[in-house]
Amino acid sequence: VFADVAKILISREQIAERIEQLGRQIKQDYDQLDPDAEIVLVPILTGAVIFVADLMRHLPIKLRMEMVAVSSYPGKAMTSRGAQLMTSMPKDLTGKHILIVDDILDSGSTIRMIRDTLSALNPGSIRACVLLRKQIGSAMQTPCEYVGFDIPDEFVVGYGLDYDNYYRNLPHIGVLKREVL
Ligand code: IMP
Ligand code: MG
Repeated sequence: VFADVAKILISREQIAERIEQLGRQIKQDYDQLDPDAEIVLVPILTGAVIFVADLMRHLPIKLRMEMVAVSSYPGKAMTSRGAQLMTSMPKDLTGKHILIVDDILDSGSTIRMIRDTLSALNPGSIRACVLLRKQIGSAMQTPCEYVGFDIPDEFVVGYGLDYDNYYRNLPHIGVLKREVL
């Protein structure tokens, strides 16, 4: 699988360093918001699993985790057409501080849908954190408090991000060779 990568966009060292910064920033922000804040991390399966695993170990705060699944783009297609929730929403979110975690902000429909759905459960606050954000209008216009890296509008894989459910295990973020797609 490593040979299918045309170019490494973000190295594992860059990812690790940025996640450490994000963790510090998030910890500081929530301390300021409410020192007794109960945080509920809501990672979006499957792409967010590696990111959330690393991020949460840089969050020395009291937190719970409630994973949710969203219908992925059909087959190999690269654009998502509207997001649909595949799991039931976590219960007991009243007054809790929700931090949605996802791998990448693209069209924004996933983050928007989760935000809207969770807002209805009367949380204390809702924020979102993504590792990557594509520099396109739809992504930049989607409310998202924490962004790891802004990247060009290219299809990327690795560190949890997939192509046809493969390549999630690459330790870096890369672009696939043309002939693989
Ligand atoms: P959105 O709803 O369009 O913002 O898309 C978000 C979801 O689409 C992400 O959680 C990814 O699963 C998937 N996605 C979007 N762009 C890429 C990409 O470049 N590589 C891999 N997955 C992507
Ligand atoms: Mg995904």
